[in-house]
Amino acid sequence: MSDLISMRDLSRNDVEAYLRHAEKMEKSLRSSSPPKPRNKIVATMFFEPSTRTHMSFWAAAERLGCRAISLSGDKSSSAKGETLSDTVRIMSGYADVLVLRHPLEGAARLAADVSSVPVVNAGDGGNQHPTQTLIDLYSILRLKKKISGLSVHLVGDLRHARAMRSLLYGLSMFGAKITLCSPKALAMSDEVVREVQEKFSPSIRTTHEINLRDCDVLYVCRIQKERFEDQYEAARLQDEFRITKEQISAAPDDLAILHPLPKIDELPADYDSDPHAKYFQQASWGVPVRMAVLDRVMGV
Ligand code: NCD
Repeated sequence: MSDLISMRDLSRNDVEAYLRHAEKMEKSLRSSSPPKPRNKIVATMFFEPSTRTHMSFWAAAERLGCRAISLSGDKSSSAKGETLSDTVRIMSGYADVLVLRHPLEGAARLAADVSSVPVVNAGDGGNQHPTQTLIDLYSILRLKKKISGLSVHLVGDLRHARAMRSLLYGLSMFGAKITLCSPKALAMSDEVVREVQEKFSPSIRTTHEINLRDCDVLYVCRIQKERFEDQYEAARLQDEFRITKEQISAAPDDLAILHPLPKIDELPADYDSDPHAKYFQQASWGVPVRMAVLDRVMGV
């Protein structure tokens, strides 16, 4: 049985196997025949809001011929005081794989320790979001045909965004040239940067100025206001830290803009139809990538 909890648990070979599998899944989605039914149930357990992750896992399960059941955290018995480990033990008796999103860092690891079926981390607090990273790497490969040597700028709330932490790990593993750009108060944790430097010796530059002149892939995320104690500060940073059309126009013509979504106003308004904007396409690759994840953790 294999869980998917953190990018840290994966080798480059593992990641490449997921990405190859996702390519097959993407091809299978073009076929008009329905999937062969499988006697498998995927349970989604979301204790934080979600649109893409939740719905794309659900769609992925159905596209694989599995069935999906869903527990919504705030309507579950956790509201009555049940512990997460009890909830997980119960759910692992009902399903063949658990997909968990939870506000506490380490929640997915804890779930995997008590579950009798594989657990997939769909985001644990500000810690990890490995399936988002697989989608991001898949998107970069589909758009740019390579990752190694590409100049990728991670721009936004690098302190709190789990998508950024996981992606820094994935990009370092594949030898991208990484620029970390955030407001001063929202820099990537030194510990995380040190860890990837020790493991992969990537090229990492840290800055607080947005300068896209050498940028092949601009990866943006919103200010993660739910992780701030001070909501006034979150609103101030969201307001201050915006990417302008002028900054984007300084970038090479084939710049690709990615975003895990949801976006607020960190990108210029009415930018969605710009040819650089690839984030809706990126979100749609969530289905084949999560099909590959479910398939592999279920041991197919
Ligand atoms: C991200 C998340 O939940 O970490 N969303 C997602 O899964 N696509 C990013 C975010 O909420 O900003």
